[in-house]
Amino acid sequence: MYRTHKNNQLNKNNIGEEVTLSGWVHRRRDHGGVIFIDIRDRYGLTQVVTDPEEFAEAHDIADQVRPEYVIQITGQVRKRPEGQENNNINTGEIEVLVTAAKILSKAKTPPFEIDVEKDVNEEVRLRYRYLDLRRERMKENMVFRHNVVHAMRDFLNREEFLDIETPILIKGTPEGSREYIVPSRIYPGNFYVLPQSPQQLKQLLMIAGMDKYFQVARCFRDEDQRGDRQPEFTQLDLEMSFVDQDDILDVIERMMIEITDKLVPNKQLLNRMFPRISWREAMENYGTDKPDIRYEMKIVDVSDIVKECEFGVFSAAIKSGGVVKALKVDGGLDLTRKEIEDLTDLAKIHGAKGLAYFQVDQDGPKSNILKYFTDEQVKLILEKTDAKSGDIIFFGADTFETACNALGQVRIACAKRFNLIDENKLAYLWVVDFPMFEKDPLTGELAASHHPFTHPKNEDLEKLDQEPENALAYAYDIVLNGYEIGGGSVRIHEHELQKKIFELLKISPADAEQRFGHMLDAFSYGAPPHAGLALGLDRIIMIFRDEPNIREVIAFPKDQKAKDLMLGAPSVMPDENLDELKISINLED
Ligand code: AMO
Ligand code: AMP
Repeated sequence: MYRTHKNNQLNKNNIGEEVTLSGWVHRRRDHGGVIFIDIRDRYGLTQVVTDPEEFAEAHDIADQVRPEYVIQITGQVRKRPEGQENNNINTGEIEVLVTAAKILSKAKTPPFEIDVEKDVNEEVRLRYRYLDLRRERMKENMVFRHNVVHAMRDFLNREEFLDIETPILIKGTPEGSREYIVPSRIYPGNFYVLPQSPQQLKQLLMIAGMDKYFQVARCFRDEDQRGDRQPEFTQLDLEMSFVDQDDILDVIERMMIEITDKLVPNKQLLNRMFPRISWREAMENYGTDKPDIRYEMKIVDVSDIVKECEFGVFSAAIKSGGVVKALKVDGGLDLTRKEIEDLTDLAKIHGAKGLAYFQVDQDGPKSNILKYFTDEQVKLILEKTDAKSGDIIFFGADTFETACNALGQVRIACAKRFNLIDENKLAYLWVVDFPMFEKDPLTGELAASHHPFTHPKNEDLEKLDQEPENALAYAYDIVLNGYEIGGGSVRIHEHELQKKIFELLKISPADAEQRFGHMLDAFSYGAPPHAGLALGLDRIIMIFRDEPNIREVIAFPKDQKAKDLMLGAPSVMPDENLDELKISINLED
């Protein structure tokens, strides 16, 4: 037997007992002949101490151990001497006098310290992830992740959802990213595709009559990495039959509230009824489809006020069908010239052509473009933006989406600059009524905003013929603190409507048959109305844990260049494997 107790268990009730403990050497201190070791396991720390006189053999072994050795000790629990108690740990009142010790495994000096919370180069952490995971914060993240998944399963089980696994080797399912493909040995020249999500399979499960499905599903997307994106990530994926949009929103809202109350009771839930705003409103007010509503700072439209003004950039934008948007930042007069330049660059990265502004002091607004506006126009701008002395007003003149988007980014940057973000708050909201399609400004071609199985709003069905770009969908995202933590839609269950959407997306009948024939076929055997959603589990855990990116909450993540630094993947394949698959590599151009 390796242990009688875990390292968080012993307390003063155990005084006098003989116990056996195992674990890693967390810290070792030599106090004039007596050696103290903190033994660590997943559960906690226990202090053990040697006696060189009475238990010399055990002492000599303890003398050899170094940090991160794995050891086993047997000894007697005793009270710590007066004044040496540690109230921060469960075992802080006792220590174990070592009567026998054994080294189970030696350890090289780790590339970074395990026992202190210090910043360590991420490359090194990822290369030695198994050591990184020994550190308290990472261990807590793993335990927390387990608790979130467990609480979700528990909730969904109570709601009669079935946990059903779907395959990983499949045929492509469109979610808008590039796919990872796996060559088939048995059918050379043929490939499996890894799922970007279980989307089609969960719809097929509805056709199969499973009624309520969920899965903690691994998804694979070959896209550029960011802090909140990984090439493989985990969704809490679900689908329900005989439901409409409200039913999905209701079940997810109840689950998220239950989980939030249970797992992050220390955080303040801003709204227990999640606000629902339309995609259009989100863009108008916040310049993004995933607004952070922990702070106000709304964007306003000043097109009407400035449409006749003499600043050509503004009037021209409006004449060509665009808009002029304004963002007032309280206290923004404090921004330095350099800070304003940086914000201008930020706006430009997001498509804006510039970032005009009024600086408002006690004498009124100052700006190099003020001369182009009448007193009345200036007055109306100040009124509309509710600006006062000490503020700055930024302007964006462009198409609706570009102007909103650019100011939306400026809004986020200013919220950070002026410390408006309360990290202790959790602000959920629903963004609903997404457009069915996105139109390519150059080619005019339509792409599905969500995915091609999304149902148009019933009142917009007629628009599909004349003005499909204006049709809205039963598509919804759930947003938390400015992150999209989930998205879903009501699905098309009508064969004819699905065919029509494929046509609008310029997916030819032959192409549709080749890519989605199985779906169309399945729909012709009696499909229930159904809807669903998938939550980005990694993102939710990242936000709950106040972590800066999702790598911190994934046991073995890829780095920012999609590499697994620990395993060394991706890697070159031996020729014999490639020959077997009939694959030849051409690295030219
Ligand atoms: P969607 O593509 O919106 O929807 O994905 C759902 C949620 O998954 C998370 N997510 C990611 N997390 C980490 N890394 C990534 N690369 C990544 N991509 C997405 C986001 C997102 O909101 N099948 C549909 C769902 C449905 O319609 O039911 C889907 O996959 O939090
Ligand atoms: P200019 O007349 O080009 O020097 O521009 C005057 C100010 O307007 C500068 O602060 C520019 O950054 C800004 N500006 C230029 N184009 C736009 C635009 N499309 N929207 C908002 N501001 C702009």
